Amino acid sequence: MTRHAHRLPRWQRRSLYVAGAALLASGVLWLVLHYSAAAGELPHPLEAWAMRLHGLASFAALFMLGVLAAAHVPQGWRLTGRQRRAGQRGTGLALCILGALLALTGYLLYYFASESVRPALGWLHSAVGIAAGAGLAFHQRRKSRETRMN
Ligand code: HEM
Ligand code: HEM
Repeated sequence: MTRHAHRLPRWQRRSLYVAGAALLASGVLWLVLHYSAAAGELPHPLEAWAMRLHGLASFAALFMLGVLAAAHVPQGWRLTGRQRRAGQRGTGLALCILGALLALTGYLLYYFASESVRPALGWLHSAVGIAAGAGLAFHQRRKSRETRMN
């Protein structure tokens, strides 16, 4: 097995990064608009646009998680049975769990959040989202360190 044998096809890697970057950017923009000191009585008009972009990017991201579930995850799981790549199994599994939590908390935010639970649920959802972004960077950084060691 060569060290690049488990690289994602370029369209998958790019689509995942574009969707992930759009989710983070639109989520953080919404938080800044909503909670900044400059926020007035009425919601900032850009808040709705930030969520429209966020909703679009979240469908794309869930589609990409489905694409990865078909090949990357099962192949990666077999590959990481070996000691040397065991770390990637842990971070990969964490990414799957964080993705599921994002879908669940996003769904609750959209359909069930009453005004009293919404702020806490929104912060929880955002913290999971930021952790997933960091987790993705870490999932790959191990790979580049390993590549340098080879
Ligand atoms: C249990 C689940 C998973 C396992 C076992 C796993 C395993 C791996 C392995 C072994 C690599 C290294 C490839 C190499 O050395 O070239 C890798 C790369 C990568 N993984 Fe995962 N992974 C999992 C889940 C995920 C998930 C859920 C995502 C996305 C949210 C993801 C995104 C990536 C990306 C972007 C790369 C870099 C690919 C590239 O450079 O082309 N993985 N994964
Ligand atoms: C797969 C990933 C994600 C999915 C499926 C997802 C889904 C959703 C959904 C469905 C909503 C509700 C939209 C609405 O009420 O109009 C939402 C809101 C939100 N999301 Fe995400 N999201 C994801 C990632 C992220 C990330 C990475 C962040 C990073 C900061 C984030 C931050 C937010 C914020 C701040 C809100 C508004 C919270 C509120 O209304 O109180 N999301 N998300």
